[in-house]
Amino acid sequence: MDFKTQVAGAAGLAKLATDALLVLVSGTELPENLDAALASVLGTAVKEGDFAFKAGQTLYAHRVEGVKATRVVYAHAGDGSAKALRRALGLALGYVKSSGAKQLTVAATGTLAWHGALAEALVAAVSEATYLYRETKPSAPAPARLASVTVVCAKTEVAAIESGLRIGQAVAAGTTLARECANRPANHCTPSYLAEQAKKLAKDHGLKVEILERKDCEKLGMGSFLAVAQGSDEPPKFIVARYHGAAKTVAPIVLVGKGITFDTGGISLKPGAKMDEMKFDMGGAASVLGTLRAVAGLKAKVNLIGIIPACENMPSGRAIKPGDVVTSLSGQTIEILNTDAEGRLILCDALTYAERFAPAAVVDIATLTGACITALGHHRSGLFSPDDALAGELQAAGDAAGDPAWRMPLDDEYDEGLKSSFADMANIGDGTGGAVVAAMFLKRFTAKLRWAHLDIAGTAWKSGAAKGATGRPVPLLTHFVLGRAA
Ligand code: BES
Ligand code: MN
Ligand code: ZN
Repeated sequence: MDFKTQVAGAAGLAKLATDALLVLVSGTELPENLDAALASVLGTAVKEGDFAFKAGQTLYAHRVEGVKATRVVYAHAGDGSAKALRRALGLALGYVKSSGAKQLTVAATGTLAWHGALAEALVAAVSEATYLYRETKPSAPAPARLASVTVVCAKTEVAAIESGLRIGQAVAAGTTLARECANRPANHCTPSYLAEQAKKLAKDHGLKVEILERKDCEKLGMGSFLAVAQGSDEPPKFIVARYHGAAKTVAPIVLVGKGITFDTGGISLKPGAKMDEMKFDMGGAASVLGTLRAVAGLKAKVNLIGIIPACENMPSGRAIKPGDVVTSLSGQTIEILNTDAEGRLILCDALTYAERFAPAAVVDIATLTGACITALGHHRSGLFSPDDALAGELQAAGDAAGDPAWRMPLDDEYDEGLKSSFADMANIGDGTGGAVVAAMFLKRFTAKLRWAHLDIAGTAWKSGAAKGATGRPVPLLTHFVLGRAA
C-alpha cells in the first residue's frame, strides 16, 4: 500500500481525479468551504434523514454529478480525536474495500485539521480494514484492490502528516507480522517456525539473531524454561534478536515475549472448549517480532533486544507433574503446583537472561492469565511495574498509539500466596487476584532490572465470528521504544 500527501483545499475536492473520495466532516453543520456538488449531496441526505452530523454516521454516493471521483464516501469524524477518526475510517472503508476502487483520496473538511497522530490513525485503519489471513485458507476471498491512499491537506501540514504516515506504516507492518505469526495454527507455528521468522527478520532488517537450543539452555541452567518444554516432541528454541540503531555504549531496551506455541495446560490439562485459541499463546512473542520489525524499519536511533523463550506446553510421559520442583536460571527453586501456569515458568528464565545486557528497561509481554481478562476485559492490556516512571511511559505510549493499557497493583501482600513448603516459591497462589499474583511471581526475578510486565491475555486476539490475532501491543511497544530513541 502506498500512502502520500497532495496539497489541495476543500474547495477543490470535486475536481480531484480518484477512484474514491472520502470526505471527513466534523461538528454539527455542513462544512462551509465544501464544493457545491459535494455539499448538495450531503445536504439532501441530511434533509431526507440519511445522514446526521454525529459520530458513526456515513454516506455513500456513486458518480455524483459535478464530481470527478467515481465514488464519494462521507464520514463524520466524531470529536476529531485519533480514536474517533479511526472508528469513522473503519466504517467508511467498509464501502471502499469491497468496491472496485484502487485509489482512495481522504480529505478533512470544516474544523477538522490533519496532524501526525491522525495520519497514523489513518494508516492503522486502512491496514486493519484490508488485512486478510490467507496462509492456510486458499479459498479466502481476494484481498482488497486498494493500492494507494492520498491525504489531501494544506502545505503547512505536509511534514507532520508524512512523519505520521511513515510511523503508521512501520507500526502497521509490525502489527501485520505479529498477526500473521499468531494466526498460524500451532502445527505450522512451532518454536522452530518462530526461530525461522526471527532469522528472516534479521536477514531483511539487519538484526543479529542467536538461537539457543535445548542443550545450550541446559548448560546455562534454564531449569524452569526446560521443565515446560520437556513434555513436547517439538524442540524448544530460546530466541535472542538484537537491533543496533544507537552507539554500542547506549543501554538497550529488552522486550521479552512469551512464546508458548500451544498451551494444552500440560498434566493440569485445560478443558476442551476454546482450547484451539491456545495457539495464540505466543502472542507476546509475535509482538516482540513485530516491534523489532517496526523499529528497525524506521531505523530508530535506539538499541533494542528481543528475547523469546519458545516451546509447547504438552502432557506426556515426560511432562512435568504437579508438585515437581525445578531450579530456575536465577538459582531460585520453584514448586510447580499447576502445570498450566507455564508462562511465568518460561518468562522467569528469560528475565534472568536479560540481566546480561545491562538494559535500560525490560518489558515482558505475555498472554499470561485468564484473570486479567476478568479484570480488564478485551480493551486494555494489564500493565504492571514497580517503577512509576516506566509505568507512566508505557501507559502514555499505549494512549498515543490507540493501544491502551491500565496499571495494576504490585503490593507485597499479593506475594504471600506464592509461599511453598518445598521450594523458594510455588508457581500459583490461592486463585484470587490471579493476574497480580502472576506478576508478583515474575517480580521475584527482576530485582536487578527496571522492569514492566504487560498481560495481553485479553487483547492479543479476538474470539467469536471475527476470531483472530490483533497484533497488539505492537503499537504501544513501538511508541514506547521510539520515545526512548535519540
Ligand atoms: N495462556 C494461559 C492464560 C490464558 C487463558 C490466556 C485463557 C487467555 C485465555 C496461561 O498459561 C494459563 O493457563 N494461566 C492460568 C493460570 C492459573 C493456572 C494460575 C489461568 O489463567 O487459568
Ligand atoms: Mn497455561
Ligand atoms: Zn499459557
